[in-house]
Amino acid sequence: MATIKAAILGFGTVGQGIYHILNEKREELKNKLGIELEVAKILVTDASRERVPGTAHLMTTSMDDVLAEPGMQVVFEAIVNEEPAYSYLKRAVEHKCHVITANKVMFAKRGLELQALAKVNGVFVGYEATTAGGVPVIKTMKNILLVNDVSRIQGILNGTSNYILTKMRAEGCTFEEALKEAQSLGYAEADPYNDISGQDAFKKLMILSALAFDEQPDWADVEVIGIDSISPAQVQEANDKGLRYRHVAEVERLDNGNIVAKVGPQLVDKEHPLYPVDDVNNAVALETNYIGTLTLIGPGAGMYPTASVMVEDYAEIIGKRAGFVVTI
Ligand code: NDP
Ligand code: HSE
Repeated sequence: MATIKAAILGFGTVGQGIYHILNEKREELKNKLGIELEVAKILVTDASRERVPGTAHLMTTSMDDVLAEPGMQVVFEAIVNEEPAYSYLKRAVEHKCHVITANKVMFAKRGLELQALAKVNGVFVGYEATTAGGVPVIKTMKNILLVNDVSRIQGILNGTSNYILTKMRAEGCTFEEALKEAQSLGYAEADPYNDISGQDAFKKLMILSALAFDEQPDWADVEVIGIDSISPAQVQEANDKGLRYRHVAEVERLDNGNIVAKVGPQLVDKEHPLYPVDDVNNAVALETNYIGTLTLIGPGAGMYPTASVMVEDYAEIIGKRAGFVVTI
């Protein structure tokens, strides 16, 4: 049986999740895909720190080292920020590696460029994990966009914000206590300002806009407000009136063709579809011409939900390359 080699860039919450799932599902993936996958390199900033027993020999800080590995064909990327992530993935694609990323900061800005480069090089880009964690919104959209037009997307796209709002409302936690919990559970970004300021949800919304409409609104025109604008007292006051705060991201194509978007807290009542979406869950409602409104709800962050959709991307890519549809 053929073996292909993979690298994991970034070995924090998501990177370690990928490693664990690939180990746990090694035999199953091998049997279903007919190919053995070996994690041959793990790229971090500090290679001297062993995060998972038995991985010390795989650690490197050099992308040259990753690409010099004979048989390297798949690169999972779970580092932070646009750079060096984009440069690393560009090099990987030019080296004819398939790439699978969780990095929405990079992908919101450089995703179209990376996909164009991948096309030229005959490789695939998986980016399910960039948006809504374990909720397969990218695959779902790709599966309906041939004949459906999406007119509007509305959702909760940041798990940390939703978790904090839930904890403040249901358990009376302070903002700081709830954020600390979200960090310890691996939900928050390395810099949690991105979560609570609305910037993380904004980047995900831009990725969905590019997929649904083939374009994004001018970023400068999008109002982005985070949950850091809401106090625990406001959350309780709303709760007493039977209302809940939700951090909502929405983008739509107007009749004149313009794309407009906004991100910010909204008060919703019991009748609103986002009312029951608590904890780390995300929700995405896609308004389409033929299907009508399609809503997906599920865990929007965390080690295993995120890593699992990256491994699913890998299975899809290998299936496509081999010319068959993978049924799992
Ligand atoms: P962590 O902070 O837990 O891990 C980041 C990892 O990336 C660390 O291992 C770090 O190395 C490495 N790293 C950071 N910068 C560099 C660099 N310049 N060169 C090499 N390695 C680098 O982050 P997460 O795992 O939580 O998130 C990773 C990515 O996945 C982010 O883009 C995030 O937005 C995205 N994401 C996260 C989700 C989650 O639930 N946590 C969900 C969906 C997406 P070192 O260990 O040496 O510091
Ligand atoms: N920090 C992000 C969130 C991770 O809380 O939604 C998932 O993208």
